[in-house]
Amino acid sequence: MKAMIHRRYGPPEVLQPAELPDPVVGPADVLVRVVATSVTTADWRLRAFDVPPIFWLPGRLVLGIFGPRNPLLGRDFAGEVVEVGPQVKGFRPGDCVFGSSAGGSNAEYVSLPESSAITHMPKGLTFDEAAAVPFGALSALVFLRDFAKLRRSQRVLIVGASGGVGCYAVQFARLMGADVTGVCSKRNADRVRALGATDIIDYENVNWAMVTTRYDLILDAIGHFTFASSRRLLAPRGIFLPLNFGLKEMVQSMMNGVRAGQRVVVGMSGEQKADLDYIADLLTSKELIPVIDRVYPLSDLVSAHRHVETRHRLGAVVVRVAS
Ligand SMILES: NC(=O)c1ccc[n+]([C@@H]2O[C@H](COP(=O)([O-])OP(=O)(O)OC[C@H]3O[C@@H](n4cnc5c(N)ncnc54)[C@H](OP(=O)(O)O)[C@@H]3O)[C@@H](O)[C@H]2O)c1
Repeated sequence: MKAMIHRRYGPPEVLQPAELPDPVVGPADVLVRVVATSVTTADWRLRAFDVPPIFWLPGRLVLGIFGPRNPLLGRDFAGEVVEVGPQVKGFRPGDCVFGSSAGGSNAEYVSLPESSAITHMPKGLTFDEAAAVPFGALSALVFLRDFAKLRRSQRVLIVGASGGVGCYAVQFARLMGADVTGVCSKRNADRVRALGATDIIDYENVNWAMVTTRYDLILDAIGHFTFASSRRLLAPRGIFLPLNFGLKEMVQSMMNGVRAGQRVVVGMSGEQKADLDYIADLLTSKELIPVIDRVYPLSDLVSAHRHVETRHRLGAVVVRVAS
């Protein structure tokens, strides 16, 4: 099958076209012809091996010491089922599906177990729209619901509210009944407001010393705040949730048990099928809206990576694999 792969860690240019063997379809697997996939921050970090120092050694041991063990990047996919294993009950050839493929998705086909994060595409959604959702929405859901345990009427500050995760974090926080302030640029303010933010802080013009609101949760997708710099803006029992973290934040989060008051919470998002089903329901009812920044062809995956790496996008960067 046609794919874009990387054989070494490095800049976007390490991505090259390649022919890979078609995936093997196990007895409980679903084979999908991919129509659209995406590039996320996780993809460029894996490609560049951009990890905090504390994760360097474990990261290399897991991902590959001298180069990536799995050369295929991408997780999000949307496409059409072409084959199913004999034990598969919930899918059949011709079904339109979307989800997250742990083995990579920047290729013509993905094969994944029926029990993993794959579900039917809501009616009316395009393949591009479906591919724009899983990474951002699953991450946002897990961070807000499971790590922050966000409750109705709480005040949330989302830093990077217009980004790949932020666009969905704003929507989920609103769905959970929170009062959402989005930190984004003036250019994206209207879009972020339309997604559910009641207040906007323009990060290019804010004087944080003048902000008097105290937030129950600060979700920082950009790395703007440290725990120390966030504390003045946190409510007495507020949570600082940095999406990217290192040793310092891990130690700070371990101190939560012995320190009353403001806390640091860190964690890795997961990809559960039940969560994807829930997200599909929200897409069907239009309570959740896919946000697409740009669409690139698979052959130009290098440009898609370059763009994501600028950290100036509005929502997901989609990659079209087939028509
Ligand atoms: N721990 C985990 O399991 C986990 C899971 C998922 C993601 N993550 C991490 O979480 C982060 C999520 O990033 P993302 O993909 O959502 O980011 P992103 O898409 O790269 O964010 C870009 C957006 O942020 C805005 N922005 C840039 N600088 C800003 C600033 N100083 N303040 C506020 N907004 C700013 C940009 O707006 P303008 O273009 O207008 O500047 C753009 O819309 C990544 O670093 C990823 O690695 C961690």
